[in-house]
Amino acid sequence: MRVCVIGTGYVGLVTGVCLAHIGHQVICVDNNKEKIALMQSGESPIYEPGLEEIMRSTMVAGKLNFTKNINNAIANSQILFIAVGTPALPTGDSDIRYVEAVARSIGLAISGEYKVIVNKSTVPIGSGDWVRQIINSEIVKRQLDNIPQFDVVSNPEFLREGSAIHDTFNPDRIVIGGSSDQAISLMKELYQPIVDRKIPAIDFLGQLSPQTVPLVMTDLNSAETIKYAANSFLATKISFINEVANICDKVGADITQVAQGIGLDSRIGNKFLQSGIGWGGSCFPKDVSALIHTAADYGYDAQLLKSAVKVNTNQRVLVIDKLQQVLKILKGKTIGLLGLTFKPNTNDLRDAPTIDLIEELTRLGAKVKAYDPLIQSIYHHPILSTIDLENNAIDLAKDCDALVLVTDWQEFKSWNYTQLAKIMNNPLIIDGRNHLDIDTLAAAGFYYIGIGRRAPENSLVAKRVQRDAKKTITKVA
Ligand code: NAD
Ligand code: UGA
Repeated sequence: MRVCVIGTGYVGLVTGVCLAHIGHQVICVDNNKEKIALMQSGESPIYEPGLEEIMRSTMVAGKLNFTKNINNAIANSQILFIAVGTPALPTGDSDIRYVEAVARSIGLAISGEYKVIVNKSTVPIGSGDWVRQIINSEIVKRQLDNIPQFDVVSNPEFLREGSAIHDTFNPDRIVIGGSSDQAISLMKELYQPIVDRKIPAIDFLGQLSPQTVPLVMTDLNSAETIKYAANSFLATKISFINEVANICDKVGADITQVAQGIGLDSRIGNKFLQSGIGWGGSCFPKDVSALIHTAADYGYDAQLLKSAVKVNTNQRVLVIDKLQQVLKILKGKTIGLLGLTFKPNTNDLRDAPTIDLIEELTRLGAKVKAYDPLIQSIYHHPILSTIDLENNAIDLAKDCDALVLVTDWQEFKSWNYTQLAKIMNNPLIIDGRNHLDIDTLAAAGFYYIGIGRRAPENSLVAKRVQRDAKKTITKVA
């Protein structure tokens, strides 16, 4: 099938590349000239494991092309994906001006055969009808003899950054919202190889599940609501486990054991129970906020979602309390951050918890250093110009009063912490993702603090605590 994807960010580029890999003829459009030139030369503007390899192979096979000429791309395609950004406005609502601009472009250029317009961007509930109206209003202005025929469907995206290719070929479900049989039938045909798990081999993809992918067919509004509800549920689940972790800290329980104990209940499930410094990224914060605002527009106060946001806001700076408990005054202290991105395997810094953390540490007078495997330039984000960006573990740890792990990069598990403890002013580590092994850090000479985490009964740390307690009791006696 001939597919046009408008907007080549995390969602658009991955969608275009994956559809080309399963045999469709794909043209990707972006209004950013530099991005188009980069992609035409075979380079991906974003970091996503495996993306560049498949992008290049599909380009060589003649299945994938890039252009900034939106008119030709629209005219020659059967299925048009809208995959532009919908960032949050300062009010918390979604900024849908990019979707509107694309809808107008479609209305101005659409011609020839029947087309399906697919809302892939996460859009406020009701946007399907709104997009149809904008396209129609542009068509009417053209006073054509032959009115182009089209339908709008909603096809929300559920991929995660850092595993976007894997998620696109292994979705838990595909949701298609719309009422036109013709549009739905074309969408089913488009996704059939993914539904049937007939994906041309890729090394890193591993074994695909033998079951076909469930197709969820809904009306437009329900499909749009599914997207917001899914992200809001996942964000709330993380805020829930973070709240329990904070209670664990008070009562002396261990959140990793608690998460295991509740996660084995199939009604709860073991995913998204990783406690830490909270959720960030380009979607959870804006999508939860957008759902709260939509509810308010209709006179409903979404109290649970507001609480999930509040827990998350506090969680982002909780490590500061933990630093203050040990170091007392942070003014004049040097704090080294392990990781900057909102999650591992991405170079995306949009709404990363680190940004709040850097702001607060700087406000309190601490000097901040940071190391991230994929962030090696201060131009990634304006806040990076306020810190020392290091490019290895030794430079990061040197003269630090504490380290704080903010992103659970695999690389951090294999660092030589014995060496790092020796070059720090004070070997303290706050593990903001409960990512490191407590005994390894204790053996390396670190004072380790996690989030709701307690050393296991028979661990080196627990034995030390018991030994010190005995000494104190003997002294008192
Ligand atoms: P992005 O900001 O990474 O990319 C958007 C792209 O659209 C940019 O390359 C931009 O240049 C281009 N663009 C903007 N206006 C354009 C126009 N008029 N014509 C052509 N190109 C234009 O965004 P993203 O992260 O890919 O997100 C896109 C949408 O998908 C958002 O609604 C988001 O909520 C949703 N989503 C994102 C993810 C994710 O993991 N990032 C996952 C699921 C859903
Ligand atoms: C999330 C959803 O998982 C995707 O299904 C959705 O398509 C996407 O948002 C979107 O709409 O953009 P993503 O933001 O890429 O994907 O990453 P996640 O793996 O969901 O992580 C989000 C945040 O939650 C990260 O900051 C991560 O560190 C945090 N997190 C995740 C936790 O703190 N604990 C967990 O157990 C899981």
